[in-house]
Amino acid sequence: MIKKLSTLLFIAVMVFADNVDAQIPSLKNVFKNDFLIGTAMNAQQIEGKDAAADELIKQQFNAVTPENCMKAEIIQPGWDTYNFDLADKLVAFAKKNNIKINAHNLIWHSQLPGFMHHMQSADSVREYFINHITKVASRYDGKVYSWDVVNEALNEDGTLRKDIFLDKLGDNYIVEAFRLAQKAAPHTKLYYNDYNIEQPKKRAGAIALIKKIQAAGVRIDGVGIQGHWKAGAVPMADIEESIKEFSALGIDVMFTELDLSVLPSPWDKVTADVSETAQGSAKMNPYTKELPDSMQRVLAKSYADLFTLFMKYKKQIGRITFWGVNDGQSWLNGFPIHGRTNYPLLFDRNFKPKRAFYSVIATAKNH
Ligand code: XIL
Repeated sequence: MIKKLSTLLFIAVMVFADNVDAQIPSLKNVFKNDFLIGTAMNAQQIEGKDAAADELIKQQFNAVTPENCMKAEIIQPGWDTYNFDLADKLVAFAKKNNIKINAHNLIWHSQLPGFMHHMQSADSVREYFINHITKVASRYDGKVYSWDVVNEALNEDGTLRKDIFLDKLGDNYIVEAFRLAQKAAPHTKLYYNDYNIEQPKKRAGAIALIKKIQAAGVRIDGVGIQGHWKAGAVPMADIEESIKEFSALGIDVMFTELDLSVLPSPWDKVTADVSETAQGSAKMNPYTKELPDSMQRVLAKSYADLFTLFMKYKKQIGRITFWGVNDGQSWLNGFPIHGRTNYPLLFDRNFKPKRAFYSVIATAKNH
């Protein structure tokens, strides 16, 4: 009888253990010796109003980037008013769960506060620039791991984007932004972040920029390649060349906003410029119910190719961050065409791992 009971118990324990084993693998664990694995966090998730997402974040990721709440329009809505509420909550969440924060971002032409929109005086822009960087970066020094100090300062041809900062402060403003950030946040890593900088011309512009910062004796610790690409058309050779060229500058390389759109593009260009929009149509939104298996495979293959490359260069790569937790939460449902149904991430709308998730896991050495 006792023997029978203990046999039953043994079987029960094995079944339980099996269930535990059968749990989905964790990205942050399988890549723990390789690079950090991050996700963007939106306001709901930071507020604790999306328990399923928060659970998944704790299970899968060891790095987070605030999707919006540390951008200028939110964190400094008025000339003299700051709103640190969400950013402070993010810091608390990350601390509790042993997650590194990449703060995003200090200087960017987009999502600027309303009072900046028609600012004419160079003196005022300079005052804003100094105050914003100093106040925000110093508050989070030692609390965030890194800052995207400057975001998206380059045009596709590698020249500097003609935004309010270039216009009013001149072409040294990026060096100055890093100099101010270095002073305000001496314990925080400082990065330049942009999209399409794997492309040869824009990459050359980014390299010139980084060299200029270094030549000025100012600290820059890394470069973030955003990684908003198309499934089935990921520019693998350019990405590999970029990892080599950027890491040769003695800085960390990161993929910071990874997502692979499965939808047709309204243009023949690839862009993540948030100010670009296009008209929708049924043809532009083909998978409103579900993603067909054939496309799931294309997505999984692109992710597998990418992570195989990332593993080859794991010594040069510090972090891979996905831009969102699940498909339903991706900004690509709204960009560049409003109201589409996109499937660019590793988890579906019910937080279930997709084929692409397992294809990524399969590239890890210790899964
Ligand atoms: C996007 C956010 O995901 C959206 O919620 C927001 O409406 C617009 O910005 N490059 C960046 C990110 O550096 O900050 C952008 O995030 C996507 C493109």
